[in-house]
Amino acid sequence: MDTNRLSKTIEAALNAQMTREAHASQIYLSYACWADKKGYGGIANFLFRHAEEERNHMMKIVQYILQRSGTVKVVAIPAPDSDPTNVNDCFEKVFKSEIENTAEIYKVVNLSHDERDWATWNFMQWFVKEQIEEEALALKLLAKIEIAGGKGASGDALYNLDRDLGVTPDEEKSAEDATAANP
Ligand code: FEO
Repeated sequence: MDTNRLSKTIEAALNAQMTREAHASQIYLSYACWADKKGYGGIANFLFRHAEEERNHMMKIVQYILQRSGTVKVVAIPAPDSDPTNVNDCFEKVFKSEIENTAEIYKVVNLSHDERDWATWNFMQWFVKEQIEEEALALKLLAKIEIAGGKGASGDALYNLDRDLGVTPDEEKSAEDATAANP
C-alpha cells in the first residue's frame, strides 16, 4: 500500500527546497566566518545566528516530508559563493540570496496550488510569511550600511554598525503584529 501523501513532483520540490535552506545556512555560515576573520564580531554573531535559523527552516521541511510519509533525500549542498569583498557587498549578497529563496518558495506554492495539494500549500504559507520578514531584515541591513557610508563605510560608523548588529534580534517583527501604540 502506498502511504505517501505527497505526489512525486511535490516530494521532489520539497526535497529541493529543503536542500536550498541548508544551502542558505552554509551561505550565512561562510559570511559569518568571513566577518569574524575581518574583526567584525557583531556582524559575525548576527550571521552565525542566522545560519542556525536557516537550519531550522530546513528541519521544518524534513519533518513535513516525513509526516506526509514521503522520502527525505539528503544530498550534497552546493558550496557558498566567494567571500564578500566588504560589508556592503556582504549585505547585498544576503539580500540577493533571500530574494532568490523567496522565488523558489513561490514555485513550491504554485506547484501545490496546481496539484490542489492543500496540505502542502498550507504548510508553505509559513515560509511565504517568513520570507517577508527575512527580506525585511535583509533590507534593514542594507539601510544600516547605507547610513554608515555604503561601500565606503569605515571608522566609527562601521564600528557602531558592527556593535549594533551583535545585539540585533534574529526576527523582524511581523507587520500583522503592528499596532498604533506599538508600530
Ligand atoms: Fe530560509 Fe532566509 O530563508
